[in-house]
Amino acid sequence: MNDSELIEAARAAARHSYSPYSGFAVGAALLFEDRSVVTGTNIENASYGLALCAETVAVANAMADGRRGGLVAVAVTGPADKGGGEPITPCGRCRQVLNELAQLGGTDPRILCIGANEVHETTLSALLPDAFGPASLS
Ligand code: THU
Repeated sequence: MNDSELIEAARAAARHSYSPYSGFAVGAALLFEDRSVVTGTNIENASYGLALCAETVAVANAMADGRRGGLVAVAVTGPADKGGGEPITPCGRCRQVLNELAQLGGTDPRILCIGANEVHETTLSALLPDAFGPASLS
């Protein structure tokens, strides 16, 4: 699984986006140490504030599968025709949700933010420095 394949998995997930209110389809793909991939997409609600982000759905899918760490990379795709096609970065809540899974396995995942014409690569620790997580409670 290379970066291009991970990005394609995120794009494929976005095709199942339920985003009738924003029209903003997001896909997320999580890569694990065992080379498996778990995806998610954003799911909105008629009660607008209840929208679930793609990254959060992906983490929920992974944890419901029993995963508790091993997160090495995350690709996030947004619509090419919004926001000037700029790469989108995970929202604040998703950074915290990703941190839970990452910190359980002691990894600092690469985050690939996919735009229409460029990939912005960063890390979770850069997006969420001094994170509060499970280690803080032990
Ligand atoms: N969204 C995500 O899925 N991930 C993010 O990191 C940012 C925002 C979704 C939520 C909502 O369904 C739509 O994008 C517009 O905010």
